[in-house]
Amino acid sequence: MSNKVALITGSSRGIRRAAALVLAKEGASFIGVHYASNADAAHSTVREIEALGAKSVAIVADLQEGKEATDSIWHQFKTAAIATTGEPWLDLLVNNAGVAPAVSLAHTSEAVFDEILAINLKAPFFLIQALADHIRDNGRIINISTGFTRVAAPTHPAYAASKDALETLTLALAPEFGPRGITVNTVMPGVTETDMNAAWLVNSEVRAGAEAMSVFSRVGQPADVADVIAFLASDKARWVTGQVKPER
Ligand SMILES: NC(=O)c1ccc[n+]([C@@H]2O[C@H](COP(=O)([O-])OP(=O)(O)OC[C@H]3O[C@@H](n4cnc5c(N)ncnc54)[C@H](OP(=O)(O)O)[C@@H]3O)[C@@H](O)[C@H]2O)c1
Repeated sequence: MSNKVALITGSSRGIRRAAALVLAKEGASFIGVHYASNADAAHSTVREIEALGAKSVAIVADLQEGKEATDSIWHQFKTAAIATTGEPWLDLLVNNAGVAPAVSLAHTSEAVFDEILAINLKAPFFLIQALADHIRDNGRIINISTGFTRVAAPTHPAYAASKDALETLTLALAPEFGPRGITVNTVMPGVTETDMNAAWLVNSEVRAGAEAMSVFSRVGQPADVADVIAFLASDKARWVTGQVKPER
Protein backbone atom coordinates (compact mmCIF):
# COMPACT_ATOMS: atom_id res chain seq x y z
CA MET A 1 0.00 0.00 0.00
CA SER A 2 3.04 2.24 -0.08
CA ASN A 3 1.93 5.77 -1.02
CA LYS A 4 -1.57 4.63 -1.99
CA VAL A 5 -4.65 6.83 -1.64
CA ALA A 6 -7.82 5.22 -0.27
CA LEU A 7 -11.45 6.10 0.42
CA ILE A 8 -13.48 3.92 2.77
CA THR A 9 -17.16 4.50 3.39
CA GLY A 10 -18.63 3.94 6.83
CA SER A 11 -15.13 3.70 8.24
CA SER A 12 -15.63 5.55 11.48
CA ARG A 13 -16.05 2.33 13.45
CA GLY A 14 -16.49 -1.42 13.10
CA ILE A 15 -14.88 -3.39 10.31
CA ARG A 16 -13.63 -0.49 8.28
CA ARG A 17 -12.04 1.39 11.12
CA ALA A 18 -9.89 -1.74 11.42
CA ALA A 19 -9.34 -1.75 7.64
CA ALA A 20 -8.32 1.92 7.61
CA LEU A 21 -5.75 1.26 10.31
CA VAL A 22 -4.34 -1.82 8.53
CA LEU A 23 -3.98 0.19 5.31
CA ALA A 24 -2.24 3.01 7.20
CA LYS A 25 0.13 0.51 8.84
CA GLU A 26 0.93 -0.91 5.40
CA GLY A 27 1.97 2.48 4.07
CA ALA A 28 -1.11 4.15 2.55
CA SER A 29 -0.37 7.87 2.33
CA PHE A 30 -3.88 9.36 2.43
CA ILE A 31 -7.15 7.81 3.63
CA GLY A 32 -10.64 9.33 3.44
CA VAL A 33 -12.79 8.27 6.40
CA HIS A 34 -16.47 8.62 5.58
CA TYR A 35 -19.17 8.70 8.24
CA ALA A 36 -22.85 9.49 8.53
CA SER A 37 -23.68 10.29 12.14
CA ASN A 38 -20.73 9.39 14.29
CA ALA A 39 -18.42 12.42 13.95
CA ASP A 40 -16.48 11.66 17.14
CA ALA A 41 -15.66 8.14 16.00
CA ALA A 42 -14.67 9.39 12.53
CA HIS A 43 -12.31 12.05 13.90
CA SER A 44 -10.84 9.55 16.32
CA THR A 45 -10.12 7.20 13.37
CA VAL A 46 -8.52 10.12 11.50
CA ARG A 47 -6.25 10.80 14.50
CA GLU A 48 -5.32 7.10 14.76
CA ILE A 49 -4.44 7.02 11.04
CA GLU A 50 -2.32 10.17 11.37
CA ALA A 51 -0.52 8.70 14.39
CA LEU A 52 0.56 5.90 12.04
CA GLY A 53 2.12 8.45 9.68
CA ALA A 54 -0.54 8.73 6.97
CA LYS A 55 -2.71 11.75 6.17
CA SER A 56 -6.47 11.46 6.61
CA VAL A 57 -9.68 13.41 6.26
CA ALA A 58 -13.18 12.86 7.65
CA ILE A 59 -15.97 13.06 5.08
CA VAL A 60 -19.63 13.31 6.01
CA ALA A 61 -22.65 12.24 3.97
CA ASP A 62 -25.90 10.44 4.67
CA LEU A 63 -26.15 7.73 2.05
CA GLN A 64 -29.92 7.73 2.32
CA GLU A 65 -29.73 10.88 0.22
CA GLY A 66 -28.84 8.98 -2.94
CA LYS A 67 -26.64 10.33 -5.72
CA GLU A 68 -26.46 13.74 -4.08
CA ALA A 69 -24.66 12.05 -1.15
CA THR A 70 -22.24 10.02 -3.29
CA ASP A 71 -21.42 13.09 -5.42
CA SER A 72 -20.78 14.99 -2.20
CA ILE A 73 -18.44 12.26 -0.89
CA TRP A 74 -16.44 12.37 -4.11
CA HIS A 75 -16.33 16.18 -4.08
CA GLN A 76 -15.15 16.31 -0.44
CA PHE A 77 -12.58 13.58 -1.02
CA LYS A 78 -11.26 15.09 -4.27
CA THR A 79 -10.87 18.53 -2.68
CA ALA A 80 -8.95 17.05 0.26
CA ALA A 81 -6.84 14.80 -2.00
CA ILE A 82 -5.78 17.76 -4.16
CA ALA A 83 -4.90 19.76 -1.04
CA THR A 84 -2.91 16.87 0.45
CA THR A 85 -1.39 14.96 -2.47
CA GLY A 86 -1.66 17.57 -5.22
CA GLU A 87 -3.74 15.20 -7.38
CA PRO A 88 -7.42 14.19 -7.72
CA TRP A 89 -6.63 10.45 -7.88
CA LEU A 90 -7.22 7.45 -5.68
CA ASP A 91 -6.05 3.84 -5.70
CA LEU A 92 -8.62 2.13 -3.52
CA LEU A 93 -12.34 2.45 -2.81
CA VAL A 94 -13.90 0.29 -0.09
CA ASN A 95 -17.71 0.37 -0.11
CA ASN A 96 -18.23 -0.62 3.49
CA ALA A 97 -21.09 1.51 4.88
CA GLY A 98 -24.13 -0.64 5.46
CA VAL A 99 -27.25 -1.18 7.50
CA ALA A 100 -28.71 -4.54 8.47
CA PRO A 101 -31.99 -4.15 10.35
CA ALA A 102 -33.55 -7.45 11.38
CA VAL A 103 -36.96 -7.06 9.77
CA SER A 104 -38.97 -9.98 8.44
CA LEU A 105 -40.97 -9.81 5.22
CA ALA A 106 -44.14 -8.86 7.10
CA HIS A 107 -42.44 -6.09 9.07
CA THR A 108 -40.49 -4.46 6.24
CA SER A 109 -42.11 -1.13 5.43
CA GLU A 110 -41.46 0.53 2.08
CA ALA A 111 -39.40 3.20 3.88
CA VAL A 112 -37.15 0.60 5.55
CA PHE A 113 -36.77 -1.32 2.27
CA ASP A 114 -35.78 1.91 0.46
CA GLU A 115 -33.28 2.81 3.21
CA ILE A 116 -31.58 -0.60 3.05
CA LEU A 117 -31.35 -0.52 -0.75
CA ALA A 118 -30.17 3.12 -0.80
CA ILE A 119 -27.27 2.56 1.61
CA ASN A 120 -26.24 -0.99 0.68
CA LEU A 121 -26.65 -0.93 -3.11
CA LYS A 122 -27.48 2.45 -4.65
CA ALA A 123 -24.66 4.25 -2.81
CA PRO A 124 -21.87 1.85 -3.90
CA PHE A 125 -23.19 1.97 -7.48
CA PHE A 126 -23.18 5.76 -7.76
CA LEU A 127 -19.96 6.22 -5.81
CA ILE A 128 -18.16 3.88 -8.21
CA GLN A 129 -19.73 5.82 -11.10
CA ALA A 130 -18.65 9.18 -9.64
CA LEU A 131 -14.98 8.28 -9.24
CA ALA A 132 -14.49 5.68 -12.01
CA ASP A 133 -12.34 8.03 -14.10
CA HIS A 134 -10.21 8.99 -11.11
CA ILE A 135 -9.11 5.53 -9.98
CA ARG A 136 -5.50 5.08 -11.00
CA ASP A 137 -4.51 2.12 -13.19
CA ASN A 138 -4.05 -1.07 -11.09
CA GLY A 139 -6.42 0.35 -8.48
CA ARG A 140 -8.93 -1.57 -6.40
CA ILE A 141 -12.67 -1.48 -5.73
CA ILE A 142 -13.77 -3.63 -2.78
CA ASN A 143 -17.41 -4.08 -1.76
CA ILE A 144 -18.67 -5.62 1.47
CA SER A 145 -21.45 -8.22 1.35
CA THR A 146 -22.64 -10.72 3.95
CA GLY A 147 -22.84 -14.46 4.56
CA PHE A 148 -26.62 -14.00 4.42
CA THR A 149 -26.35 -14.24 0.63
CA ARG A 150 -25.30 -17.89 1.09
CA VAL A 151 -27.55 -19.06 3.92
CA ALA A 152 -31.29 -18.44 4.15
CA ALA A 153 -31.92 -15.38 6.30
CA PRO A 154 -35.67 -14.97 6.83
CA THR A 155 -34.85 -12.44 9.56
CA HIS A 156 -33.16 -10.10 7.03
CA PRO A 157 -34.71 -10.62 3.56
CA ALA A 158 -34.25 -7.05 2.27
CA TYR A 159 -30.69 -6.84 3.64
CA ALA A 160 -29.73 -10.21 2.11
CA ALA A 161 -31.21 -9.20 -1.26
CA SER A 162 -29.42 -5.82 -1.25
CA LYS A 163 -26.06 -7.52 -0.65
CA ASP A 164 -26.73 -10.21 -3.26
CA ALA A 165 -27.28 -7.41 -5.78
CA LEU A 166 -23.96 -5.88 -4.70
CA GLU A 167 -22.22 -9.18 -5.45
CA THR A 168 -23.84 -9.22 -8.91
CA LEU A 169 -22.67 -5.63 -9.45
CA THR A 170 -19.14 -6.74 -8.55
CA LEU A 171 -19.19 -9.39 -11.29
CA ALA A 172 -20.81 -7.02 -13.82
CA LEU A 173 -18.18 -4.29 -13.32
CA ALA A 174 -15.05 -6.45 -13.32
CA PRO A 175 -14.72 -6.45 -17.15
CA GLU A 176 -15.30 -2.69 -17.31
CA PHE A 177 -12.26 -1.97 -15.10
CA GLY A 178 -10.10 -4.98 -16.02
CA PRO A 179 -8.30 -3.40 -19.01
CA ARG A 180 -6.83 -0.79 -16.64
CA GLY A 181 -5.65 -3.44 -14.17
CA ILE A 182 -8.31 -2.30 -11.69
CA THR A 183 -9.90 -5.18 -9.78
CA VAL A 184 -13.46 -5.26 -8.41
CA ASN A 185 -14.09 -7.76 -5.61
CA THR A 186 -16.45 -8.36 -2.71
CA VAL A 187 -15.63 -9.53 0.80
CA MET A 188 -18.41 -11.54 2.42
CA PRO A 189 -17.95 -11.53 6.21
CA GLY A 190 -19.63 -13.97 8.54
CA VAL A 191 -20.85 -12.73 11.92
CA THR A 192 -18.35 -10.12 13.09
CA GLU A 193 -18.03 -8.44 16.48
CA THR A 194 -19.14 -4.85 15.72
CA ASP A 195 -21.79 -2.41 16.90
CA MET A 196 -24.09 -3.90 14.26
CA ASN A 197 -24.31 -7.10 16.32
CA ALA A 198 -23.63 -5.79 19.81
CA ALA A 199 -27.24 -5.98 20.96
CA TRP A 200 -27.70 -9.67 20.25
CA LEU A 201 -24.18 -11.03 20.80
CA VAL A 202 -24.49 -10.21 24.52
CA ASN A 203 -26.90 -13.13 24.82
CA SER A 204 -24.63 -16.14 25.46
CA GLU A 205 -27.01 -18.65 23.86
CA VAL A 206 -27.35 -16.56 20.69
CA ARG A 207 -23.60 -15.98 20.66
CA ALA A 208 -22.97 -19.73 20.85
CA GLY A 209 -25.24 -20.12 17.80
CA ALA A 210 -23.23 -17.50 15.90
CA GLU A 211 -19.96 -19.21 16.88
CA ALA A 212 -21.30 -22.57 15.71
CA MET A 213 -22.01 -21.05 12.25
CA SER A 214 -18.27 -20.47 11.73
CA VAL A 215 -15.83 -23.22 10.80
CA PHE A 216 -13.48 -21.50 13.27
CA SER A 217 -16.06 -21.83 16.09
CA ARG A 218 -15.83 -18.17 16.99
CA VAL A 219 -17.28 -14.82 16.03
CA GLY A 220 -15.05 -12.87 13.62
CA GLN A 221 -13.18 -9.77 14.74
CA PRO A 222 -12.97 -6.58 12.62
CA ALA A 223 -9.24 -7.26 12.12
CA ASP A 224 -10.04 -10.67 10.55
CA VAL A 225 -12.05 -8.92 7.84
CA ALA A 226 -9.63 -5.98 7.56
CA ASP A 227 -6.75 -8.33 6.70
CA VAL A 228 -8.73 -9.83 3.80
CA ILE A 229 -9.42 -6.31 2.53
CA ALA A 230 -5.72 -5.49 2.84
CA PHE A 231 -4.88 -8.62 0.81
CA LEU A 232 -7.35 -7.71 -1.96
CA ALA A 233 -5.97 -4.17 -1.94
CA SER A 234 -2.41 -5.42 -2.34
CA ASP A 235 -0.46 -6.15 -5.51
CA LYS A 236 -0.57 -9.85 -4.58
CA ALA A 237 -4.29 -9.87 -5.49
CA ARG A 238 -3.75 -8.32 -8.95
CA TRP A 239 -5.11 -11.46 -10.71
CA VAL A 240 -8.29 -11.68 -8.62
CA THR A 241 -11.36 -9.85 -9.92
CA GLY A 242 -15.13 -10.26 -10.06
CA GLN A 243 -14.88 -12.53 -7.01
CA VAL A 244 -16.66 -12.87 -3.70
CA LYS A 245 -14.34 -13.84 -0.85
CA PRO A 246 -16.21 -15.70 1.88
CA GLU A 247 -15.11 -15.38 5.49
CA ARG A 248 -16.10 -18.19 7.79
N1 LIG B 1 -20.80 -7.12 11.54
C1 LIG B 1 -21.16 -8.19 10.86
O1 LIG B 1 -21.41 -9.27 11.42
C2 LIG B 1 -21.24 -8.13 9.38
C3 LIG B 1 -21.42 -9.33 8.70
C4 LIG B 1 -21.52 -9.31 7.31
C5 LIG B 1 -21.42 -8.11 6.64
N2 LIG B 1 -21.25 -6.95 7.33
C6 LIG B 1 -21.16 -5.71 6.55
O2 LIG B 1 -19.98 -5.03 6.91
C7 LIG B 1 -20.15 -3.63 6.71
C8 LIG B 1 -19.70 -2.88 7.95
O3 LIG B 1 -20.51 -3.28 9.03
P1 LIG B 1 -20.05 -3.16 10.55
O4 LIG B 1 -20.34 -4.48 11.16
O5 LIG B 1 -18.71 -2.58 10.66
O6 LIG B 1 -21.23 -2.20 11.05
P2 LIG B 1 -21.28 -0.90 11.92
O7 LIG B 1 -20.28 -0.93 13.02
O8 LIG B 1 -22.73 -0.75 12.23
O9 LIG B 1 -20.82 0.21 10.87
C9 LIG B 1 -21.65 0.55 9.78
C10 LIG B 1 -21.11 1.78 9.10
O10 LIG B 1 -22.06 2.19 8.10
C11 LIG B 1 -22.26 3.59 8.23
N3 LIG B 1 -23.63 3.96 7.90
C12 LIG B 1 -24.78 3.52 8.48
N4 LIG B 1 -25.85 4.19 7.99
C13 LIG B 1 -25.35 5.10 7.10
C14 LIG B 1 -25.95 6.12 6.28
N5 LIG B 1 -27.27 6.36 6.27
N6 LIG B 1 -25.13 6.86 5.50
C15 LIG B 1 -23.79 6.64 5.51
N7 LIG B 1 -23.17 5.70 6.25
C16 LIG B 1 -23.95 4.95 7.05
C17 LIG B 1 -22.00 3.92 9.70
O11 LIG B 1 -21.62 5.29 9.80
P3 LIG B 1 -21.66 6.07 11.24
O12 LIG B 1 -20.59 5.43 12.07
O13 LIG B 1 -21.37 7.49 10.95
O14 LIG B 1 -23.03 5.85 11.78
C18 LIG B 1 -20.91 2.93 10.08
O15 LIG B 1 -19.63 3.49 9.93
C19 LIG B 1 -21.63 -3.42 6.36
O16 LIG B 1 -21.75 -3.24 4.96
C20 LIG B 1 -22.27 -4.72 6.81
O17 LIG B 1 -23.43 -5.00 6.07
C21 LIG B 1 -21.15 -6.93 8.68
